[in-house]
Amino acid sequence: MSSQFDIIHKDAAGRIGKLTTPHGVVETPTVMPVINPNIQTIKPSEMRELGAEILITNSYIIYRKDELRKKALEDGLHALLDFDGPIMTDSGSFQLSVYGEVEITNEMIIDFQQKIGTDIGVPLDIPTHPDVSYDKAKEDMDITIGRLKQAKELVNGDMLLAGPVQGAIYKDLREQCARELSDVGFDVYPFGAVVPLMESYRFADLVDVIASAKKGLDPTAPVHLFGAGHPMMFSLAVALGCDLFDSAAYALYAKDRRYITSRGTYHVDQLRYLPCSCPVCVDHTAEELKKAHNCTELLARHNLYVTFEEVREVKQAIWEGNLLELVEQRCRSHPRMLEALKQMYTYSPWLEECDPSSKSTFFYCGPESSRRPEVLRFGRQLERFTVKGSVLISSHPTKKNSEYEHIMLFKPPFGPYPQELTEVYPFNAEVVRNPDYESLETAYQNTIRLVELNPEATFTFFMKETLNHPLVERLRKMDNFNIVAQGSD
Ligand code: GUN
Ligand code: ZN
Repeated sequence: MSSQFDIIHKDAAGRIGKLTTPHGVVETPTVMPVINPNIQTIKPSEMRELGAEILITNSYIIYRKDELRKKALEDGLHALLDFDGPIMTDSGSFQLSVYGEVEITNEMIIDFQQKIGTDIGVPLDIPTHPDVSYDKAKEDMDITIGRLKQAKELVNGDMLLAGPVQGAIYKDLREQCARELSDVGFDVYPFGAVVPLMESYRFADLVDVIASAKKGLDPTAPVHLFGAGHPMMFSLAVALGCDLFDSAAYALYAKDRRYITSRGTYHVDQLRYLPCSCPVCVDHTAEELKKAHNCTELLARHNLYVTFEEVREVKQAIWEGNLLELVEQRCRSHPRMLEALKQMYTYSPWLEECDPSSKSTFFYCGPESSRRPEVLRFGRQLERFTVKGSVLISSHPTKKNSEYEHIMLFKPPFGPYPQELTEVYPFNAEVVRNPDYESLETAYQNTIRLVELNPEATFTFFMKETLNHPLVERLRKMDNFNIVAQGSD
């Protein structure tokens, strides 16, 4: 079976998609709860009502244990877990990265995954630690690519095959790896070995890894961010084009008595209040939760509820076209996330290519919004815009009069645009009344560009005091540009 991934809605590089698997269709973005075949805090059969559409487990753990292997081979993976929806299985690569070796080969684990009826199988890739040397990363990557090609030859049923993209933190390697795998053709592309980056809060590096790997892939291919399960970073990763996530975090954090929220994590013993309305948090006070004999299970349930709540929040944001506003909010929960936001907008030219050209009202959420793809796009469109004669640039709507042939409105972070377009996206943006330095910077750069591109026009700018910025001096020096000072309002 060849994979089918239909994209039904887009925002930035994010999308709502439908991935067809042998056990049904999954709507993405979504999170696959990790099921430990040995110990289950929450039964797989209960996962659907908590919001899960697809699960992930580890075929190597099943393979290694006689009792599990026997049952999986006889009755199938879905019977073993008692879940009839789609199940992805990992290969033991993670164990390889932690323990240095595993007792199976790539061929054996691919064969086993097919025999037990996995929906999405994973070859034995090498998760290369982010900080190894370039040469080591390249060497591992080449071995991984070889194994993935071999796996592709071995698949003969309807199992979908994942092709993990490796390459440590080397952007060219990630892109090259993605491109080579793309040429072979896999059904899902996990981005691998990012767990150490997330554990050490290196979210800006994570942005580089995702953006580089995405560049090497067909934009319509489904992407899985391996080992990413904290809801705080979903919106960011989705905006960069990730579709699937997996969460062991819900259970691992619960074991550590940690309570997940979309803003970060609390230790349950620090909680005086429960800031959530899931069934667990409605039924318990903070004190009751701390003392409950089944505290781990309750925390795991809460952690999953908030995980899927964030998935729905992200999907709704894509649907409405305000995913970047959500990303900007979420990235304010931690300084390292704020770095990641800034890093994401260094990829605005690429995001702009993916972004639908019209969507819901642009909300200015802070200085970073000045670097959004929509603003960049406006800057580009100026190149195609010509004006002649006398042009008034004002921050207030102005009646047409005989003195000026054109009236343009000045709105940071965009700059001047034709007044007739006020109600049109993106100029209908909701912006702050006292523009910050960054939004003025962008708006004036665009103004300078407009004036340079239209030497035959003469511009008059009604400038309020609140719009001052060092770039105004550059405008003042331009021959066809006059500034008329206006008081503040
Ligand atoms: N789980 C977390 N990271 C990885 C990875 O890079 N490869 C595989 N197969 N599993 C993972
Ligand atoms: Zn809760």
